[in-house]
Amino acid sequence: HKNSLVLGIETSCDETSVAVVKNGTKVLSNVISSQMDVHRRFGGVVPEVASRRHVERITVIIEQALAEANVTKDRLDAIAVTQGPGLVGALLIGVASAKALAYALNLPLVPVHHIAGHIYANHLVTPLEFPLIALVVSGGHTELIYMESHLHFVRLGQTRDDAAGEAFDKVARFMGLPYPGGPQIDRLSAQGKVIYDLPRAWLEPESLDFSFSGLKSSVMQLMQKAERKGETIGQADLSASFQAAVLDVLVEKAFRAVKQKGVKQLLLAGGVSANSGLRVRLMKRAEEEGITLRIPPLELCTDNAAMIAAAGTYLYYEGKFADLTLNANPGLSL
Ligand code: KG4
Ligand code: ZN
Repeated sequence: HKNSLVLGIETSCDETSVAVVKNGTKVLSNVISSQMDVHRRFGGVVPEVASRRHVERITVIIEQALAEANVTKDRLDAIAVTQGPGLVGALLIGVASAKALAYALNLPLVPVHHIAGHIYANHLVTPLEFPLIALVVSGGHTELIYMESHLHFVRLGQTRDDAAGEAFDKVARFMGLPYPGGPQIDRLSAQGKVIYDLPRAWLEPESLDFSFSGLKSSVMQLMQKAERKGETIGQADLSASFQAAVLDVLVEKAFRAVKQKGVKQLLLAGGVSANSGLRVRLMKRAEEEGITLRIPPLELCTDNAAMIAAAGTYLYYEGKFADLTLNANPGLSL
């Protein structure tokens, strides 16, 4: 498998992205076309609008990714695509485009799980070392995953209601902050103090599951109560208090998983890994506990196709191909 070139396609939500990755480790191009501007005025991703935007952009972005990588189509070895989970209409555009390319170029078609992609974003920085624990925190997922070797994912815990990023976005929306709210709350937190007492859902002792809907409701009740009394709640202090409640649980449970499995590597993945508070707290704790922490650079934290191509390369090495009946699967399990 010397010098394998894999083209990856990611359209699971509101980013149209195409990348070319060499040997599963080197990003030759990673074009990301965000639809944020379109969805912002609706306060969230509108699935129909997302699909339509993907259709309009995908062909141009494929050409752009090849041009930026300085790679011609005939030099590609495989086409990797996010099969799920995600918005079905959005996923379909990527899957249909990948199938067309694989058919036209007579190349293997490699379906990739979106979360596997987020984890493999780290592989683009430094090769993964096993065994490891991955904390995957995005708009759709909050999961703790144990990996003993390439492509072997064991889920140790997950959210029972809202994902971490979803909680950030919903609370931000309630506070009147623009979409997506995660980065806004992150920014405001840095200027605020943790002064509001908000609940942490620890669940059963030793549990590695998460729950954020109670916290979200508490924030809303706090704001409504203040409004009734004619009091004002500072956005910065509320952001800091909410973020602290989320991070306390994320950090504690990630290290609980590390301890339970006796691993030395902790990996952070997904859009919420962009959170500066989370990064700082995990780094501090990792140093205290003598654990190696891996966090992808910001541009590889949020949805992108390079991470799909990276995971896709290992699936390609293992011959995990799909035929042209491949369908998008919005509820795909890891
Ligand atoms: O991985 P991603 O791009 O898309 C999904 O697969 O969901 O993650 C997007 C999520 C959004 O909920 C967004 O608010 C959150 O990641 N996010 C953040 C930050 N940057 C992005 N949440 C907290 N702090 C941030 N700095
Ligand atoms: Zn994602």
